[in-house]
Amino acid sequence: MTRIICIASGKGGVGKTTVTANLTAALSQFNKSVVAVDGNLTTSNLGLHFGIPLYPVTLQDVIKKRASLRRAIYNHPAGFRIIPADVSLKKLMLPDTDRLMDVLYRFVGDADFVLIDSAAGLGKEAKVAVESADEVITVTNPDMPSLTDALKIAKVARRYETRNIGVVLNRVRGESHEMGPESVREFMRLPVIGNVPEDKHVRSAIAYRQPVVLYRPDSPAARHFKALAAWLAGERYEVKPGMLERLAGLFR
Ligand SMILES: Nc1ncnc2c1ncn2[C@@H]1O[C@H](COP(=O)(O)OP(=O)(O)OP(=O)(O)O)[C@@H](O)[C@H]1O
Ligand SMILES: [Mg+2]
Repeated sequence: MTRIICIASGKGGVGKTTVTANLTAALSQFNKSVVAVDGNLTTSNLGLHFGIPLYPVTLQDVIKKRASLRRAIYNHPAGFRIIPADVSLKKLMLPDTDRLMDVLYRFVGDADFVLIDSAAGLGKEAKVAVESADEVITVTNPDMPSLTDALKIAKVARRYETRNIGVVLNRVRGESHEMGPESVREFMRLPVIGNVPEDKHVRSAIAYRQPVVLYRPDSPAARHFKALAAWLAGERYEVKPGMLERLAGLFR
């Protein structure tokens, strides 16, 4: 069965693209066939996370029927597929639900997971991505501004009958003012399926144009992304604390 999952957030900059890129790589490590689609057609950057900033044929070309889907699919050496969007202003466009669904549904039966990196906000672009998917994962930071927007996108998903799988808390620092998983669960009325720490390796991984699960597989964020992927894939994976975390624990 192919699962078409949109990674959405409401608020911008909370980590949707990072979650999409890392889930793609981690699911692929669990031997799942995965296609990552850049559903953020106005400020796309999923391709940058995979090391290829400029693709000759992109999702925009397929949507506008200027190129076949086959030409817009790129095989990553780590074993997954990417459909990038164009980063240039000249191909700026808003997607249309029917055309995006057309593209996505061609993977039904061919891939285990199709992950759509959504645009921020509650505008047409984000709504089309949520409506086109069967399921949605909402990414938020552990603060009220991100959470109130996360609640809105979860409501949009309900309106479109796209199943809310759960919430991924990202950039968790463990500071006392943060919303913890239990409060987030109560606020969102959804399970918290990921609890990814703030990790400098995520930023260096992007600079090295790789998802952190490939760049630093043992980093704290990578282990939490793998745990989330394992949960989605129905695999077993235990997030063990790393050496530094164990040492820090001794001094707490
Ligand atoms: N767990 C993390 N630890 C440290 N930095 C992170 C983490 N997750 C994301 N970031 C950083 O946060 C920034 C925003 O991440 P990202 O681009 O994935 O967010 P986004 O929600 O896709 O943004 P947009 O709404 O603009 O599409 C990036 O610089 C990224 O490196
Ligand atoms: Mg993004």
